[in-house]
Amino acid sequence: MIIEVDRVTKSFGSNLAVNNVSFSVSEASIFGLLGPNGAGKTTLINILTTLLKPDSGRVTVDGLDVVRDAAELRSRIGLAGQYAAVDENLTGFENLEMVGRLYHLPAKLARIRADELLSQFSLAYAGRKQARTYSGGMRRRLDLAAALVSSPRVLFLDEPTAGLDPRSRNDLWDVLEQLVANGATILLTTQYLEEADRLAEHIAVIDVGKVIAMGTPSDLKAQVGSSILEVVLGKDSNVETAKQALSPLAVTGTRIDFHSERLRVIVPERPGLVVDAIRLLDQHQIEVEEIGVTKPSLDDAFLALTGHGVGGLEDE
Ligand SMILES: Nc1ncnc2c1ncn2[C@@H]1O[C@H](COP(=O)(O)OP(=O)(O)O)[C@@H](O)[C@H]1O
Ligand SMILES: [Mg+2]
Repeated sequence: MIIEVDRVTKSFGSNLAVNNVSFSVSEASIFGLLGPNGAGKTTLINILTTLLKPDSGRVTVDGLDVVRDAAELRSRIGLAGQYAAVDENLTGFENLEMVGRLYHLPAKLARIRADELLSQFSLAYAGRKQARTYSGGMRRRLDLAAALVSSPRVLFLDEPTAGLDPRSRNDLWDVLEQLVANGATILLTTQYLEEADRLAEHIAVIDVGKVIAMGTPSDLKAQVGSSILEVVLGKDSNVETAKQALSPLAVTGTRIDFHSERLRVIVPERPGLVVDAIRLLDQHQIEVEEIGVTKPSLDDAFLALTGHGVGGLEDE
């Protein structure tokens, strides 16, 4: 285990931002910290990267204690924060060269490393342009490149693909998988279930400072232990009436979701389910266009685990 987090707690005044969190990460893997806004992800990243001290608990990264060995640890890890920390007035090349000098690389080596990273992140064509002219995706890549200047074995990425278009997000995922294939360990935070599902070998789901579930993406889906009933209603059907009609079938405490013309109900798996659903909808004069049962996605898992979607309660 290259990262060990043991019963870490951190408060800001009376706000318990991180509440007794424990997990560990094995070498050369991606660990996903998944949770909505305000869950405590950035606070945890800051503690793991020595920027914040925990109130209690213990963290070691690559065998070093984040409090006692902070200075030494800083030179061994890479961090790309939630907001890309690039200097707008410098070119991409100059940004990376500067970081290299901060890591005490000799001038020539810093320049070689900068060019190497620019090509690795498909930024060579823009390397001599000021970062202010870069798109969001290019900034993210430059920021990630900066975190890699010192070739750290452990990389911390706070919402690395937030705000990226799907294509840039996919490109970045490929880069991260490549890094891990070459032996790096990555701890990343995300609000995207799809991202954790695609990248992470293990996931901790956090909500208001607490780990509410942990395991592989399929463990988490299994933990929900149920299926999803999907119903496409006929035109002009009343969604609220349909929700009420189906509520007796839902797993207790879960909410029926309506999204992209589809009702999604978390249900226990059992024979006769679809027939019962059709009968209930029929009793309420609701027309059904399409109906079926699917396996839960990580999104459904979160809904089932927390009682609310990843967007928090705002989409209630
Ligand atoms: N420096 C700070 N001072 C006071 N409260 C903070 C500070 N940083 C974070 N918080 C609070 O701690 C909680 C967790 O925040 P954060 O770690 O940023 O969550 P996330 O990154 O998951 O969105 C939130 O309630 C936030 O308002
Ligand atoms: Mg954050």
